[in-house]
Formats: sequence, structure tokens, C-alpha cells
Amino acid sequence: MAIILGIESSCDETSASICIDGEIRSNIIASQAIHAKYGGVVPELASRAHQQNIIPTVDQAILQAKVSKKDIDAVAFTRGPGLLGALLVGTSFAKSFALAMDVPLIEVNHMQAHILAHFIDQPKPAFPFLCLTVSGGHTQIVLVKDYFEMELLGETLDDAAGEAFDKTAKILNLPYPGGPLIDKHAKDGDPTAFKLPEPQIPELNFSFSGLKTAILYLVQAEIKKNPNFLAERMDDLCASVQDRIVSILLNKLKKAAKQTGVKDIAIAGGVSANSGLRSSLLAMGEKYKWNVFIPKFEYCTDNAAMIAIAGYHKFLKKDFVGQDISPLARMHV
Ligand code: KG4
Ligand code: ZN
Repeated sequence: MAIILGIESSCDETSASICIDGEIRSNIIASQAIHAKYGGVVPELASRAHQQNIIPTVDQAILQAKVSKKDIDAVAFTRGPGLLGALLVGTSFAKSFALAMDVPLIEVNHMQAHILAHFIDQPKPAFPFLCLTVSGGHTQIVLVKDYFEMELLGETLDDAAGEAFDKTAKILNLPYPGGPLIDKHAKDGDPTAFKLPEPQIPELNFSFSGLKTAILYLVQAEIKKNPNFLAERMDDLCASVQDRIVSILLNKLKKAAKQTGVKDIAIAGGVSANSGLRSSLLAMGEKYKWNVFIPKFEYCTDNAAMIAIAGYHKFLKKDFVGQDISPLARMHV
């Protein structure tokens, strides 16, 4: 039997999870509300909140899984990418835990872990599969050949998809993080109400900064004509923005599927919680006869269950690291 403790602290979620023989038994997430009033994650505040949250979060994960600290066989932690100060908290905790309990230490790449979240529940994708990983910091199309053998086929040249949602939300005077709020308003809006540009970016890469500027100019021009524009047209604006972000993402995914011939298609990361992306991907999957894999909501945004499952697969290979390990703000899949 293998019991893995997973730790996630790369951004503004402190999370701990227990995985027993590949099955997730707990996934505790402490979110940090403090960033909302600043309109984005403040790194220094995130590190402090991680420091306060980490021990209670781990205690709760162990309690909920009904295991004892001394039964844990290994500790897996997010090494990167992410905010360095935030990563240091999880890394230091994991190193101390491993030292104190005399168990192996496993480093996990956060972007790989978002993808490996697909191995938590059934149905699991078969290798090779394509994954569109869309989060607050990344937008990537990845060819997943094996658990830890991944090839980056395309990525954003500027903003990430989550950033496009969050920065648009800021223009629309919605609080941070704006992605879920745009999603909510979009449900009652008309996606064809406002015409927004689709950038012409080569290969399988993305760009979202032009879209953000187009929205800013549109909103500024409309507010000049009608000061109540935002309040009156919020739903239509959100629906139009969401529709365009989703079409940019899915058009590239379609191109990647055509180029590779791969028909197992997955999405991962915080933006994969978006209802427009989920339903459009399902429709596209039906049209092109893809096997579509969409994670459960709790495994889309940052969580330690994905770190624990990635850790479990490394544990099976005895892929451990030493106490001299340090976090990395930048890491590739
Ligand atoms: O993966 P994640 O939790 O953290 C990072 O690793 O970045 O992703 C967070 C991002 C934020 O930009 C947030 O606005 C976005 O995911 N997000 C959404 C939705 N839920 C979360 N974007 C659009 N629609 C949603 N429902
Ligand atoms: Zn993430």
C-alpha cells in the first residue's frame, strides 16, 4: 500500500491531499480571499497566507482521509511553476515533513499535475492524448505521451486564457478573479451581441492581448455614448467575450487534433471550469468523433489532489529528490 501526501502552494490556494494507492481520499483547499480587494494575487500576501494555512490544511487532509501521519509513505509537493515565495512555503513544509517522518520527497511540476488530474477518476484518457491546459498563468496545447513525457505543441505568446478572463473582468468592473463571474453573466447573455476579433497567430500558438485591447476600446466608446452601458449590457458583453475566448482556444485545439491525428482530447487548468468551454468542447467532440475528457470542477482549479496523484505515479517509479531541492518559478511541462 502507498499513502502519498500532496502539497500545493504555487499561487493563492493552499491545498493538501491524501492519495492511497492511486485513490484520492481527501483534497482540502484553503482559498485566499485577501487578494480580491487588490484586483489580483499579491505575492507577498500569498506567501504569508500559505504560511498560516499550511499546517491546518495538512492536518485536515490527514484527518479526513482517516490515516495517521506515521502511515504516510512519501510527500509530494509543487516545485513550480508559480510564485517563488508561495512555492517556498510548500517546498519547505514538504522537506521538513520528509525529514521528520523519514519518508521520500517527490517534486511535482504544477502544469504536468493539472494534466495528470485526469488520472484521478474514471474514465482515464489513453496515451497519447492532447491536453489544452488553460489557467491563470498558462495556455498550452500538450501532446501527452506518457505520465511524465509531454511535448509542448503550442502556447500563448502573451496573456494566458485565465488572464484574458480576469483582465476583461477588470475592464468590466468585476472583482478578481473575474473568470467565474464572466461565466455566470454569460449564461444570460447573447454571444453574438458584440463582434470581437480573432487573432491570426501562426502554428498552435495563442495571443489574447489584442482581444483585451479591443474590449477596452469598445467599452470606452460605448460608455461615452451611454454612461450606464456596463450595467445595461453586462450579460451580453460577458457572453460575447467568453464566446470569443472559447473559439480561439477550440480552433487551435481542432488544428492540433488534425495535425497529430490524436482523438483523445482533454482540457485542464482553472479555465477548464468554464461552462462555455466545457459545452463547446463536448459539441466539437461529437462532431469530430473525439473522446473528450473534462475534469471534475474541484480538479480544474488549483488543488493538491492533482499533486498527490502525480506524486503517486512518481512513487511507483521511485522517482525521489533530495533535501537540496529548491522551488522554481519557471518550469516547462
Ligand atoms: O489553474 P488555476 O486555478 O490557477 C493557476 O494555476 O493559474 O486557474 C485560475 C484561473 C483564473 O484566471 C480564473 O479566473 C480562471 O482560472 N477560472 C475561470 C473559471 N473558473 C476559474 N475562467 C473562466 N470561467 C470559469 N468558470
Ligand atoms: Zn494551476
